[in-house]
Amino acid sequence: MVHAGAGTGHCDRKPEGAHVTKSPGRKLKVLLVGSGAREHALAWKISQSPLLDQLFVYPGGDAWEAGFKRLEVPSGALWDRVAALSKDHDIDFLVVGPDNALSEGIVDEFKKVGIPAFGPTKAAARIESSKVFSKEVMKAAGVPTASYQAFSDSKAALRYLDSSDVQKWSGWVVKADGLALGKGVHVCRSLEDSRAAVETLMGISGRVLIEEFLEGEEVSWLAICDGLQASIFESARDYKRVGTGGRGGNTGGMGCYSPVQGHGVEWQDRLLKEVFEPVLAEMKKRGSPFTGVLYAGLMVNPKTGRYWVLEFNARFGDPEAQVLLPRMQDDVLEILWQASGGSGKSTKLSPKVRMKKEAAVYVVLAAHGYPEKPRKGDAIRVADSLSAPAYFLAGVTRQADGGLLTSGGRVLGALGMDSKLSKARAKAYQAAARVQFEGRHFREDIAGTAVVVFASGKGSNFEALMKATLDGRLSAQIVGLVTDQEDAKALEVAGRFGVDTKVIPAPKKDSGSQAERRSAHEKNILKAIAEWNPRFIALAGYMRILGPDLIRAFWDEKGYSRIVNIHPSLLPAFPGLEGYRQAYDHGCKVAGVTVHLVDETLDGGPICAQTGFSIEGFQSADQVRARGLEIEHGLYPETLNWIIQEKFEIKNRGARAYVANVHSN
Ligand code: GAR
Repeated sequence: MVHAGAGTGHCDRKPEGAHVTKSPGRKLKVLLVGSGAREHALAWKISQSPLLDQLFVYPGGDAWEAGFKRLEVPSGALWDRVAALSKDHDIDFLVVGPDNALSEGIVDEFKKVGIPAFGPTKAAARIESSKVFSKEVMKAAGVPTASYQAFSDSKAALRYLDSSDVQKWSGWVVKADGLALGKGVHVCRSLEDSRAAVETLMGISGRVLIEEFLEGEEVSWLAICDGLQASIFESARDYKRVGTGGRGGNTGGMGCYSPVQGHGVEWQDRLLKEVFEPVLAEMKKRGSPFTGVLYAGLMVNPKTGRYWVLEFNARFGDPEAQVLLPRMQDDVLEILWQASGGSGKSTKLSPKVRMKKEAAVYVVLAAHGYPEKPRKGDAIRVADSLSAPAYFLAGVTRQADGGLLTSGGRVLGALGMDSKLSKARAKAYQAAARVQFEGRHFREDIAGTAVVVFASGKGSNFEALMKATLDGRLSAQIVGLVTDQEDAKALEVAGRFGVDTKVIPAPKKDSGSQAERRSAHEKNILKAIAEWNPRFIALAGYMRILGPDLIRAFWDEKGYSRIVNIHPSLLPAFPGLEGYRQAYDHGCKVAGVTVHLVDETLDGGPICAQTGFSIEGFQSADQVRARGLEIEHGLYPETLNWIIQEKFEIKNRGARAYVANVHSN
């Protein structure tokens, strides 16, 4: 039994192989440095620890809950002064949030005055602050990473871009060496852009890295390290670009979720062995053992399972901390204290941080103009109090009268947790909707774009969409199934995949006109699906014409609905029922499949994708259907994937409108 705090009675589990941690003898006075949402999450989690006597924050968030004491520091004071003041306040332990404090050597200053600290020294923080150093460590430790070269001279960098090997890459990443406040990385799709990036970044840092662009899925893995051992968290994924679908500029992170499907326990074991342990050994060998959170940003090829470490960070990620800390079951303060060596005794860290089963989704609400020119001073209206863990605050200022104003780019984030990822997602978005301020914007696709599938029949297309979300071909969360038929086979499919369902039969024929019945039905549907908060509806064998109530609720800024349908013919031929039979009965040479956006006409709306297939020699309509369905099951997920990522343009207007796929970001 680990008893970290005298008389705390805390901790119901002994981490695997742990020795008994020496009690600090008394509870701890802790100083937490930072003021963002990450630090708010840390403050909230630390404050639950039975080991805690008092939590001081510097500078802390203006609108965080009372209960954290601000350390008063004269403006302009350097870290040595903060360390001395902390000593005067009998602070026992320092926890550091932001990377700049670490690279400025805050931990070294606290150690000088004898205060244990969780975080790397200035020398060890170079794993984040110097990209070149980080690459050298990776190479020496045998950690897979992208091919790269570093340059201090623009001409040499440009010559490298001209070399034939480098020209073969599918893209180029140009990075400034050194911290550049989130502006130091340019992902370039052309050599021209790469050349421009070299010039810009050389101007900022005097040294740049040119690296091969890698395609795949990004996953964040964080571990608490004590210089030699690592205790790894579960996986998380953050969203760097400002706009839904990955459009727009880079940000600090617009949202996050954890755990990431398909990146489970086996990855934890593999990464401990192949990344964290070798890197810690290499850092020790270089005379700068790493204590703190080591954060490996991975790119994983989902098909081959190969991975590369894109970068290391030397601290909790923001927003990763906002999902990992609420999911953490262990006492964070106890583990950070152990890892920092504060207890004065070497202890065995558990290789894995114990996490709750619940998933967590975190959505960042950003200020008008973020990331280019965030505006400050917008009044925040909120339905409930902005307290952790429902909200973590970053750019929020409290006025004398208690009113709240925006005061930063990433204003705050809303958290949702549930045993089901889709429900956690819905809760996060519901919490986000309760906070309003002028110009507020957020991504709609954190934890995958939410899609509701409507089906009346067998549900083989629904099943194909489900499978595609599970193997990563469709970056969506299918949050629910709606059917108008109580006995639809699609309900069984939903049961198999654990998808929530709503059966909403159409009103009886004797209840009003057709338009009235449709409107009543659709109002019921809208009410029922509101809790799922879907961005898109995918019709998959839904045998009803949609009316204005549904279509208008899913109207987007471009004037088209975010409702997508798959139809068994080459539209506009053979709308209505039995498209394959109609093609067969007409003696067509070719049948086909269409995916289109839905308008209020029968099987009408801009066409997104079509596949035709020869049916010459086919012996029955069933044979046509069988081949058609096979095509549908590939075409629908593929097309829906680029539609929900909004990588499309609508060409023409009116009858000749169609949808073109555009691949750029
Ligand atoms: C599919 O062939 C689909 O194209 C068609 O219904 C079938 C549903 O099969 N849709 C329409 O006819 C729409 N007008 P499923 O239930 O096995 O996915």
